[in-house]
Amino acid sequence: MSNLLELEDIRKSFPSPAGGRIDILNGISLSLLPGEVVAIIGKSGSGKSTLLSIAALLSFPESGKVYYSGRDTSSLKEKEVAALRSRIGFVFQSSQLLADFSALENTAMPLMIQGKSKEEAFSEARKFLSMVGLEKREMHRSAELSGGEKQRVAIARALAGNPVVVFADEPTGSLDEKNAASTEEILLSAVNETGHPMLLVTHNMAFAEKADRVLELREGRLNALGC
Ligand SMILES: Nc1ncnc2c1ncn2[C@@H]1O[C@H](COP(=O)(O)OP(=O)(O)OP(=O)(O)O)[C@@H](O)[C@H]1O
Ligand SMILES: [Mg+2]
Repeated sequence: MSNLLELEDIRKSFPSPAGGRIDILNGISLSLLPGEVVAIIGKSGSGKSTLLSIAALLSFPESGKVYYSGRDTSSLKEKEVAALRSRIGFVFQSSQLLADFSALENTAMPLMIQGKSKEEAFSEARKFLSMVGLEKREMHRSAELSGGEKQRVAIARALAGNPVVVFADEPTGSLDEKNAASTEEILLSAVNETGHPMLLVTHNMAFAEKADRVLELREGRLNALGC
């Protein structure tokens, strides 16, 4: 089975306000298989969001390679990268929905970016809103949704674009415990149902343990938990 996503010796540092640079990622390698859910844990500031943003092609490493389905993304043309980005689902800690748009319009957005007609995109988006239990909220604008509902729309939006990979960066970090637990269940069951692989960052060990593998980011390196 070929790896859908492969990171090879990723390195990243940032300038330090005191001068010099701080190494954040010191040679990260990781493979994600089709349908696999991998959780990454690590202390605040260890570089989890930096790693996810590089893997999702939202930022670039200083060195190292990101491969999607065996293709080195650094050799892709801008147009090819844009097409690949439209097939990457991202759920952030705060939902980042478009405020003036309805739950349905937000969910349909990736489909319309992919060139589907409005009708087709809406019909497809409705399936995903119903998967996250929000079929009765489709006309609500973002401001008219609760925190948990917003995250559920963000999950529906991430899955609607038929993503190659789903990235979730502390997707329930902004929710209270009860809401977080139910949103975690919804995310995991939706990802299982659609069969998309997911790279998940969480502080919540109980959530991480539901993944196929748990990796810890420490001192710029990624290791199996406990190593
Ligand atoms: N654009 C930037 N410029 C300078 N330093 C940065 C930048 N982005 C991140 N950093 C630094 O890189 C380190 C890792 O940040 P990152 O956001 O990846 O951590 P994290 O593991 O996601 O933390 P948290 O659990 O708090 O979300 C931090 O020390 C941060 O200050
Ligand atoms: Mg982070």
